[in-house]
Amino acid sequence: MLTHSLITLFFGALAVSATGLNDTTVGKVRGRMLAIIAHSWEYGTATEALLELEEADVSVYGEKPFPPCRTVSADSPVISLAEYVLSIKEPGTLPLMTDGAAGDPASMGVAVLLANQTLHNATYAEAAGQQLDFLLNYVPRAPNGAISHRVSEAQLWNDFVYMGPPFIAYYGALTYNITLLLEAKKQVGLYREVLRDTNSTVTTLWQHIRLGSWEEPSHWGTGNAWAAAGAARVLQTMAKSHHARRLQGDMWELVGWINEILSASWVWQEPGKCLPDHPDLQDFEECAWTTLLAAATYRMAVLTGDETYISNASTAFDYIETQINEAGTLTKVVDPFNWSTPGTESPEGQAFVLLLQAAWRDYVAWKQSGRRPTLLDIQW
Ligand SMILES: *[C@@H]1O[C@H](CO)[C@@H](O)[C@H](O)[C@H]1NC(C)=O
Ligand SMILES: *[C@@H]1O[C@H](CO)[C@@H](O)[C@H](O)[C@H]1NC(C)=O
Ligand SMILES: *[C@@H]1O[C@H](CO)[C@@H](O)[C@H](O)[C@H]1NC(C)=O
Ligand SMILES: *[C@@H]1O[C@H](CO)[C@@H](O)[C@H](O)[C@H]1NC(C)=O
Ligand SMILES: *[C@@H]1O[C@H](CO)[C@@H](O)[C@H](O)[C@H]1NC(C)=O
Ligand SMILES: *[C@@H]1O[C@H](CO)[C@@H](O)[C@H](O)[C@H]1NC(C)=O
Ligand SMILES: *[C@@H]1O[C@H](CO)[C@@H](O)[C@H](O)[C@H]1NC(C)=O
Repeated sequence: MLTHSLITLFFGALAVSATGLNDTTVGKVRGRMLAIIAHSWEYGTATEALLELEEADVSVYGEKPFPPCRTVSADSPVISLAEYVLSIKEPGTLPLMTDGAAGDPASMGVAVLLANQTLHNATYAEAAGQQLDFLLNYVPRAPNGAISHRVSEAQLWNDFVYMGPPFIAYYGALTYNITLLLEAKKQVGLYREVLRDTNSTVTTLWQHIRLGSWEEPSHWGTGNAWAAAGAARVLQTMAKSHHARRLQGDMWELVGWINEILSASWVWQEPGKCLPDHPDLQDFEECAWTTLLAAATYRMAVLTGDETYISNASTAFDYIETQINEAGTLTKVVDPFNWSTPGTESPEGQAFVLLLQAAWRDYVAWKQSGRRPTLLDIQW
C-alpha cells in the first residue's frame, strides 16, 4: 500500500515536474541575455532573473528577504548593472533612466536598492527614492488613478505591471511601509480595470495598450505574461513583508486576478507548441510569453497550493527546452519591438528562460519539502 502510493507519488511528481535545464544550457542562455540587453526594462528583467536564479535567498522568493539576509556580492552582474545605470543617470532627474517610459526604468529599482547595501553608497538609496517619488508624484495618471506607463501622457500598457508595482511593493516591504505595499496592489487592480477584456471569446485576457493618443488593444501574449508575473511578484512581496498578516484580503484578491490570466491563457495551449503570440488570432507560436507564463504558474502554485496549471507549465517547459538553440538563444519569439511579427531573438525572452528555471527549481524544492503553500503558512 505504502510502496504503491510512494511509487504513484514519485511518478506522479515526475509527470508534472518537467526536467529543467542543465547548467550548460542555463549558462549559454544567461550569456546570451547579458550580451544583448540594452533597454531599461531588459536590464530590470535581467537583474530580476539573475536574482531569482543566482541570489535566490535575497530575492523576494527567498525565505526571509526583508531585510535581505545578506548583501549581494559586488561581483554579481545585478550590482554591476545597477552601477552602470547610476553611472549614466542624468543629473537632476528623478527616474533611474530616461527613455520616455515611466514604468520601465523602475524595473531596475530593486537592483539599485540592493546595490545601496552592497556598496554602502547612499547615492543608490537616494536614486531609488527619487524613482519612487517620480512614479507616485510626477507621472501622469489615468482617470481611475492608474500611474501611466508613459511620461508624456496617461497611457496604460500591461507591461507596466511587471515594471512598476513590484518595485513599489519592494520599496514598501524594505522600509516597513504598508501604504506602499497597498499602493502596488492597487495599481495592479487599476490596470486590470482598464485592460481586462470582458468581451466575448477572450474573456479576462488583458489588452496591450489603452488610453492616450493611440491604442493597441490586441491581446498580446507577452503583455499578459508581464501582468501575471508582475502581479505574482507583488503578491510574493506582500507575503514576505512584515505586514503580511494585515494584507490577507488584498493578497487573495491578487490571487484571483492572476488566476484569471493563467486560465484565460493556458486554455489556448496545444500539444507540442508554444502559445500563439495573440491567442485569439492564432497567429504564430511565441515561446517568450509562454516561458514567462510558465514561470508565473510555478510561482503561484507555491504561493497558493493550487496546481491546476502545473501540467500546462511543465508541458510547456519541456517543449521550450527543445527550442533553445546551440547558442543558448530561445527561438520562436516575437520581435519585442514589433508585437505582431516573429523575431529572431529576444533579450527579455532570454531572461524569461532564467525566471522559468528558477521558478521550476523552487517549485520542485517546495514539493519535496512537504511544506505548506506560502500564503497558508503565514501566521494569521
Ligand atoms: C544539456 O541539455 C541540452 C538539451 O537541453 C543537451 O543538448 C545537452 O547535451 C546537455 N548538456 C549536458 C552537458 O548534459
Ligand atoms: C541603504 O543602505 C544603508 C546601509 O548602507 C541602510 O542603512 C539603508 O536603510 C538603505 N536604504 C534603503 C532605502 O534600503
Ligand atoms: C556613490 O555612487 C555614485 C554613483 O555611482 C558615485 O558617483 C560616487 O562616487 C559613489 N560614492 C562613493 C563614496 O563611492
Ligand atoms: C510610506 O510611503 C509614502 C510614500 O512614499 C510616504 O508618503 C509615507 O510617509 C510613508 N509612511 C511611512 C510610515 O513611512
Ligand atoms: C466586442 O467584440 C465584438 C466582436 O469582436 C466587437 O464587435 C465589439 O465592438 C466588442 N465590444 C467592445 C465593447 O469592445
Ligand atoms: C492546459 O490547460 C487547459 C485549461 O486548463 C486544459 O484544458 C489542458 O488540458 C491543459 N493542458 C495540459 C497539457 O495540461
Ligand atoms: C513590423 O512588422 C511589419 C510586418 O512584418 C513590418 O511591415 C514593419 O516594418 C515592422 N516594423 C518595425 C518597426 O520593424
